[in-house]
Amino acid sequence: MISGDDMYRMDEFCLDHAKFSNKFCSDHAKFSWGRTAAFIDLSAIAANTRNITARLGGKPLMAVVKADGYGHGGVMTAKAAEAAGADYFGVATAEEGLELAGSGVKKPILALGFVERGLLDEAVRAGLEFTVFDGGTARILSEAAERAGRAVRVHFKIDTGMGRIGFAPGADSVAEIAGIARLPYLSVAGAFTHLADSDGDPEFTERQIALFADFRRSAHSAGVRLTLCHFANSAAVVRGYAADFPGYMARAGIILYGLSPSPALDAAGLIPALSWLSRLSFVKALPAGSAVSYGRTYRLARDTLVGTVPVGYADGYARANGSRARVIINGAYAPVIGRVCMDQFMVDLADIPNPNIGDPVTLIGSDGSLSVSADDLAANQDTINYEVVCGISKRVKRIYLN
Ligand SMILES: Cc1ncc(COP(=O)(O)O)c(C=O)c1O
Repeated sequence: MISGDDMYRMDEFCLDHAKFSNKFCSDHAKFSWGRTAAFIDLSAIAANTRNITARLGGKPLMAVVKADGYGHGGVMTAKAAEAAGADYFGVATAEEGLELAGSGVKKPILALGFVERGLLDEAVRAGLEFTVFDGGTARILSEAAERAGRAVRVHFKIDTGMGRIGFAPGADSVAEIAGIARLPYLSVAGAFTHLADSDGDPEFTERQIALFADFRRSAHSAGVRLTLCHFANSAAVVRGYAADFPGYMARAGIILYGLSPSPALDAAGLIPALSWLSRLSFVKALPAGSAVSYGRTYRLARDTLVGTVPVGYADGYARANGSRARVIINGAYAPVIGRVCMDQFMVDLADIPNPNIGDPVTLIGSDGSLSVSADDLAANQDTINYEVVCGISKRVKRIYLN
């Protein structure tokens, strides 16, 4: 119920608001990159690639560019990493691999997971390399390679503790891969495993690596040479696990983009490549006590200016950021107030100097000494920075710098 007094205040406010509305006026020229864009600094990708290869001291690097380069753009990221010295590329799906192969990336591309039958012929013709984690797939792959008249390179996946895909370590699997290695048109490039807790438990990680080493030795005894061996994801690279492993190749993703694999790990010297910007689309005055956004979960403690940002959860700015995140506007932080909507959210502009429609809003990135990181958003969302950057939707234009 709005009492008589409150009604009066609202009337007063509406008059004020009319005044403010005249004051804040869109300058569409400011929206040259549209309502929002993610800016990807390719020189940061290149610098991170060089940083990683320097840590590896000459050992090869597979740059993991799956999920459209963790939201940064798979092709552009791969090209920047390739020019800076990456030796191999890892993708999740055949579609991602085909996109890279078609874009002129020269280094080998490995599909790290399941490739559906309907895409095998095209993927084989495009020269992709494949992960083999069961005999049935290996046979279908061998037939596709025969049809294409070319050998395909395969990497055996060994499940040493992730519980996802792969042959279980042991004599049966060694015998099975020895049989697969004899299939026509398959050429064994190597093997890999995935570390489940390399940012957490060193003991478990070392056990996984030891199981993988045993498997490699047994495979060699059975006549299967696993030339390339890869297990080191970003956390394992940062922690320097088993870099003397025979045939070692790092297989790193998140550090390529300048983000740490875990808030507990200091990935020193990495440069975050992605900034996410928008602009204020609307500014208005609201009186103390006003509720903001769906569910009216947020009420203003004082009269203030409220800004609207034309980005929402459909862009990948998660709803969990409502009343938790902050953005940077005109060199100061503004808190997100109320629930994030599908396409918009609101900020309290009380601490923002001279706010105006069209002013840039930094959702992720730095402005002078202030910054909002993918990790900050991840903390609000109770997730990891990986999900934040992968989750920036297609609706957000990617603009490449440098
Ligand atoms: C099989 C595989 N290898 C490597 C990576 C890269 O991991 P990170 O980004 O932690 O380096 C991933 C990421 O999910 C993966 O699934």
